[in-house]
Amino acid sequence: EDYAELPQRPPVVTIMGHVDHGKTTILDYMRSTSVAAGEFGGITQHIGAFSVPLASGKKITFLDTPGHAAFETMRARGANVTDIVVLVVAADDSVMPQTVEAIKHAQSAQVPIIVAINKIDKPQADPERVKQDLARQGIEVEDFGGEVQTVNVSGKTGQGIPDLEEAITTLSEILDHRADPLSRVEGWVLEGTTKKSGKVATVLVRTGTLRQGDILVAGNTWTRVRSLHNEAGLVVKEVGPGMPVEVDGWREQPIAGDEALQAEDEQQAAQVTELRTEKIEREQMAKDME
Ligand code: GTP
Ligand code: NA
Ligand code: MG
Repeated sequence: EDYAELPQRPPVVTIMGHVDHGKTTILDYMRSTSVAAGEFGGITQHIGAFSVPLASGKKITFLDTPGHAAFETMRARGANVTDIVVLVVAADDSVMPQTVEAIKHAQSAQVPIIVAINKIDKPQADPERVKQDLARQGIEVEDFGGEVQTVNVSGKTGQGIPDLEEAITTLSEILDHRADPLSRVEGWVLEGTTKKSGKVATVLVRTGTLRQGDILVAGNTWTRVRSLHNEAGLVVKEVGPGMPVEVDGWREQPIAGDEALQAEDEQQAAQVTELRTEKIEREQMAKDME
């Protein structure tokens, strides 16, 4: 099949940056002004990721903060889930130690960066200084002839946030993010938790379309999906590529970074799970004997 003929999918974005530079404020602003917030009355429950539907009809999927730990855990396990990193730098504080760390993470994972120069509403804001400090860290911004886009924003007033969203969707189109909604479901476990309703996992669908009744295997556990919930806690019927969703009904609690793959039937799921569990037990025994 021709990649260029597959439908586009939403980009998966991780927000990174120094402490208190405004990551959460920017995400909250996007959530509160998105189409979904209007539809759902702005209720947000925490799941490991959420999707922002834009006025253009496009969507962006954000991995929730705190991003660094999750990003590193996943990457250590070989899960390259992020398409784009938005690096938040406060315009009054400029590049700080965790900014440098975030740049290193993004570069070693070879994930392209968009810089959000935040707190532009503050009188002390100095976006030119931020650009110069970034250049010293090897980030060549567009204004200085480089390729990295910067967008001046305020998570507080909302100034520039639509421009940031547009920069993300434009870059996603250039990078040509596509996936097949008709293939077997493949995804990543972003996080696993145990609730009153049982063991649940936030799954980011990479390809295929996940539906109630589908059977998923992740690590040494599996589920026949009883229900799917979006980040507003609402039941959804199906979830396509690039979208996060909460999946219930797991035998054991899935682990962040595990791959979630659709199985043919319960028998196959149980078999794969058993083999993996035995393998884990053998490895543990070998370790214990060392
Ligand atoms: P951590 O998650 O702790 O690393 O912080 P964060 O990067 O998520 O920053 P957060 O959104 O919590 O913002 C830190 C402080 O900066 C809060 O008091 C915000 O109200 C303030 N803040 C964030 N964005 C802006 C902005 O654009 N303008 C102004 N004036 N204040 C902002
Ligand atoms: Na904070
Ligand atoms: Mg935060």
